Amino acid sequence: MYLLNKYPHPANCEFVTDPGACEDVRTIRLSIDAGKGDVYRITAANPAIWQTESIDTEIAFEPRDPSRRETGNTNLELNSAGQIQFSDGQGKLLLESVPFFTFGVSGTCWLFTFRMTADMQFFGLGEKQRPFERSGGSYKFWNVDVWADHSTKSVRENKYDPDYISIPYVIVKRNNTYIGMLLDSPCCSFVSLNDRRMKMNQLTGDKQPSFFLGAENGPPSLFIVYGPSLRKLTRTFHRLVGTGSRPPLWALGNHQCKWGYAAFSDLTYLADNFEKHRIPVDGLWLDIGYMDGYRIFTYDKKHFADPVKDIAKIRQRGYHVVPIIDPGVKRDDNYAVYQNGKARDVFCKNPQGGEFTGIVWPGLSVYPDFLLDECRRWWADQVARFAETGISGAWLDMNDPACGCVDCTSMLFRNGALSHDACHNLYAVLMAKATKAGFLKLQPGKRTFLISRSGFTGSQKYAGNWLGDNFSNYFHLRMTIGKSLNLSLSGISMIGPDIGGFGGECNAQLLIDWVKACFLFPFFRNHADLSSSNQEPWVFTKRTLHITRKFIRLRYKLLPYLYNLYIHHECTGDPILRPLFYEFTDTRALALAHIDDQFMVGPAIMQAPFVDEQAQRRKVVLPKGWWFDLVGGKWLEGGRNITVKKHDASTPLYVRDGSIIPLQKGVRRDNRNDLNDIELLVAVSPRFRKKAHYTYVVDDGESFEYRSGVGTEYDFTARNVRGEVRVDAVARKKKYGAVTYSIIDVNCSGAALF
Ligand code: GLC
Repeated sequence: MYLLNKYPHPANCEFVTDPGACEDVRTIRLSIDAGKGDVYRITAANPAIWQTESIDTEIAFEPRDPSRRETGNTNLELNSAGQIQFSDGQGKLLLESVPFFTFGVSGTCWLFTFRMTADMQFFGLGEKQRPFERSGGSYKFWNVDVWADHSTKSVRENKYDPDYISIPYVIVKRNNTYIGMLLDSPCCSFVSLNDRRMKMNQLTGDKQPSFFLGAENGPPSLFIVYGPSLRKLTRTFHRLVGTGSRPPLWALGNHQCKWGYAAFSDLTYLADNFEKHRIPVDGLWLDIGYMDGYRIFTYDKKHFADPVKDIAKIRQRGYHVVPIIDPGVKRDDNYAVYQNGKARDVFCKNPQGGEFTGIVWPGLSVYPDFLLDECRRWWADQVARFAETGISGAWLDMNDPACGCVDCTSMLFRNGALSHDACHNLYAVLMAKATKAGFLKLQPGKRTFLISRSGFTGSQKYAGNWLGDNFSNYFHLRMTIGKSLNLSLSGISMIGPDIGGFGGECNAQLLIDWVKACFLFPFFRNHADLSSSNQEPWVFTKRTLHITRKFIRLRYKLLPYLYNLYIHHECTGDPILRPLFYEFTDTRALALAHIDDQFMVGPAIMQAPFVDEQAQRRKVVLPKGWWFDLVGGKWLEGGRNITVKKHDASTPLYVRDGSIIPLQKGVRRDNRNDLNDIELLVAVSPRFRKKAHYTYVVDDGESFEYRSGVGTEYDFTARNVRGEVRVDAVARKKKYGAVTYSIIDVNCSGAALF
C-alpha cells in the first residue's frame, strides 16, 4: 500500500480451491449471509490471519440457506466449481467469479476476481479525481492529504489517486441493470477494472476479461447488492450503510470561507458586505488562524477579545459561525487539551509505546485515538465545551489523518494493539462521530452540521464533505460534477466543492461559471487558499457581483425544494444530485452513461452548465419526455440532443414535465426564510396526461421534533385540463403551521425564474 500507484496482483495470491468446502489448504471457508431485500455478504473466515475492524452496517444478516430463495429476486451461490454465481429471479446470470480464482490470499492481502462482460460499465467508487465512468481504471482506497501526498502537477492537472475519501463501492452497470459490490475493509483496499494492463488472462487462462477487488488486510468480506434499477440499488445500499440525516435548514444556505479569515473583524467584514450587497448568506467560516498558535479548541485573544460575546453578535445578525477543527493536538505541556488528553491516555501510540507524533500546523502534534471509546468521549467533551462559545457546526479538516512529512503508519490504535493499516480509513469517520456526539451533548435537541475533508463508507451519518483542495481552473470545475455524482451514488449526498477553486487565482469569469454550475449543489461554499486573492462575490467586477448574487438568491428561492430533497433522502437514500441514468432509461438511441457535464437536482430539475473555458455553445442531452426550458421559456421535446448558446446572466436549466417545485416567494435578499408561504412552480404541459404529485414538508429546520411527528405535510397534485393547470392540495398534517401557496404555471409565466 505504501506505493500509492501500485496494486496487489492476483498472480501473487494463493487461491482457495474449494471455497464451499469447510476445509482446504489454508482452512479458509467462504460463507454467504443474506440480508433482507437482495443484499448478500460473502465472508472468508479465518480469524488468525486478519485484524477485524469492519464497517457498521444497518441491516441484519443471516446465514444463507441454499435450499431457499430468501431474498426473493436474486440468488447468490457458490457452485461446485468453486465459483460465486449471482443471478436474477429468472435465473439470468448477473455476475460470476472467475473459475478457480474466486478468492485469493497473499499474506494478509485478500481479493476476489470476477468476470467482466462486454456490456459492463463501472461507476461509484466514492471520491476519485478520475473520469465519471470508472471503467478501465485501477483505484486505491487509502485516505490521503492530497496536496501533501501527491505532486502539485498531478493535482493541478487532475491525475491523481487516491483521494481524501475512500468508499470501495463499485456499481456495475449492465445496460439498465445495476449491481453493487462493497468491500467491508477500512484497510488499504483496491479495485482494478483494467484487465489489459493487469494481464489477467495470462493468469486465469479465461477467455473473458476479469476485474478484481480486495484489501491489504481487514476482515475479508464483500457485500453484493442488487438493483435492478439504479434507484433501487442506491436505496438498498443506503439501507445497508445508512443515510445522511436531515441537516439544519441554514446548512443549505450560502457559505463564505477563506484561509485567512481568523478574527471577529473578518466575520464583521463579511456580514457587512453580504448585507451591503444584499446577498443572502448563512455560514461564515473561520480557518486555522483563529486559534491560539493552532491549538485546537482555543481562540487567539488578538482575534477574539471575548469569543462568547463576539460570536453572539454575529448570531444576532442572523449568521452562523463555523470554525475549522483539526485532529492534531499540539505537544505542549502548558496546554490544557494536551494535558488532559494525556491524563486520560487517549492519544495514539507509536511502536515503542510513546505518543505517536506527526507534524501539522502547530508543529509537533499528537493524535486522538478515535478507535477508543474513552477517546471519543474525551473528544466529545472538548467539542461540547468549545461549542459553548456559540459556534453552530464544525469543519473537520486534516483527518485523513495528515501528519505532514511524517509517515503515518507508525500511528497505532487502541493503546498500540491495532496496526495503523487496520484502521486508517476509519480515522475521519470516527472523528466525525465523536464531534457529532459533542455537539449533541451540549444541545441534544439540535441537529448538527459537520463538513469533513476525509470520509469512508457510511460517514454521511455524521458529516458531509467538501471535495478537499481543488484549483481555480476549468479542469477542476468540470471534474466537480462527475466526482460529486459518484460520491452521491456512494452514499455522500451532502457534497460541494470550494466554489471559485481553492488553489491558484480565481477570476471574474471563473467565479461566475463556478457559481452557475454549482448553485444547486447540496453544499455551497466559496473558499480559497491563504496565498490566493480574495474571491468573494463583490471583489471582481459589477457584472460578477450582479450574476453571482442572482444565482445565490435563486438558491434561496429554491430552498424549499432542496430541503425537501434532504427530507426524502433521509428516508429513502435517493441522492440530491443524480446522473441522468438515475432518472431515465439509458438507450442506444440516446446514451446517457457517458454524460458527466449534466445532472439532475432531485427528480425535477436538470442542469447543463458551461464548464469549458472556451465554449460559447454546448450540447445538451434532453432525455425522453418534455422539458420546460427555464431560460427560453418554452417546452422542448426530449429524446434528442440540442445545442444551446452561453448567456452571461443565465445557465441552461430545465424542468421535467409533470413537476411541482416549491419556491420561496419573491427575490431573496437575505437569509430570512419562510417555508410556510410558498409559490409552486407547476410544470405540467398540455401533453402530460397524468396527475403530477408532490409531497411538501415543513418543520422548524433545526430540531429533531420531526422524529416525533411535529411537522407540516401537504400533498399537491396538478393536472393540465385543456390547457389550464389545476392544482389540488391536501393538508396531511399542520403541526408546524399551515402552508399558503400561490401558483406559477410555467405555461403562462414562461421564463419565470430568470
Ligand atoms: C487544508 C484544507 C483547506 C484549509 C487549509 C488551512 O488545506 O483542505 O480547506 O483552508 O488546510 O486550514
